[in-house]
Amino acid sequence: MRNIIQTKELEFHYPRQNESIFSNLNIEIQEGEFVGILGSNGSGKSTLLKHFNALIKPKNGSVLIDEKWDTANSDTWLDIRQLIGLVFQNPENQIVSTIVEEDVAFALENLGLPRIEIKKRVNEALKIVNMYEYKKQPPYQLSGGQKQRLGIASILAMKPKGIIFDEATSMLDPKGRKDILKIIHELNQKYGVTILMTTHLLDEVTAVDRVIVLDKGKISFDDKPEVVFENRIELEAMGLSIPTVTKLALDLKNEGYLKGTKKLVLTKEEFAYAIKKDLEVRRNESFKN
Ligand SMILES: Nc1ncnc2c1ncn2[C@@H]1O[C@H](COP(=O)(O)OP(=O)(O)OP(=O)(O)O)[C@@H](O)[C@H]1O
Ligand SMILES: [Mg+2]
Repeated sequence: MRNIIQTKELEFHYPRQNESIFSNLNIEIQEGEFVGILGSNGSGKSTLLKHFNALIKPKNGSVLIDEKWDTANSDTWLDIRQLIGLVFQNPENQIVSTIVEEDVAFALENLGLPRIEIKKRVNEALKIVNMYEYKKQPPYQLSGGQKQRLGIASILAMKPKGIIFDEATSMLDPKGRKDILKIIHELNQKYGVTILMTTHLLDEVTAVDRVIVLDKGKISFDDKPEVVFENRIELEAMGLSIPTVTKLALDLKNEGYLKGTKKLVLTKEEFAYAIKKDLEVRRNESFKN
């Protein structure tokens, strides 16, 4: 498999910071992966992600994008930013035009693409994020969730291989959050876009391939969510709380229930299934007695 992002011995600190935010960080992200990045406030998630989009250069070590572009070389920056898009927390900061479709077209026009290609890409991108019907509207009339979807469309129109979502759902209500998460998963599964996503809500990363937890400048966990979330105590010490259903299932297990379920329960569906299995096990046991 091809590495879309690779850091080697990465070290970084901002000017006037005495200590490095991270040092000797080695991370490989493969093309097509969906990776959740977790860590407490100030653990360096956003700083790390900005390295992947060439917004920040390493102080030491290196960041290699698509196995060919070193972010230390400024000649690669335009290519890198087309290949890996970055969606921030606040959609307001990403809007540059007064009409939705013009906003999506903006970066494409700067690339000098032919009109017909621009139109095609704008329409495709707006359809993917379910914003096509708003294409003639001014962005200020949109809701927060719609603005965030517009931000995603503007990035999609560049046909990136990877998209980074830095707390991209944190300003949205539950419905807006759900819509965005659905689109992010679809981008990964249907279109093969590599996804990196930070969030404080572990519920949002139960269905991802891999979770990386940053703590005090080091990677403390890097595995599938069902393996990482086993470390409830350590995660809670970092201010990260595992999903409510996972907690409840662990508590029930401690009290002798859910014996038939070996795997960590991560979703409501898995919880319902675990309860069903528990009832079956108990019924069989009572028949035997
Ligand atoms: N532009 C900057 N100049 C100086 N220090 C900064 C700058 N941006 C971030 N920092 C500091 O670097 C550290 C890491 O910050 P960063 O924003 O990467 O953390 P984070 O994990 O994204 O936090 P959060 O969960 O709050 O988003 C913090 O101590 C922060 O205060
Ligand atoms: Mg951050």
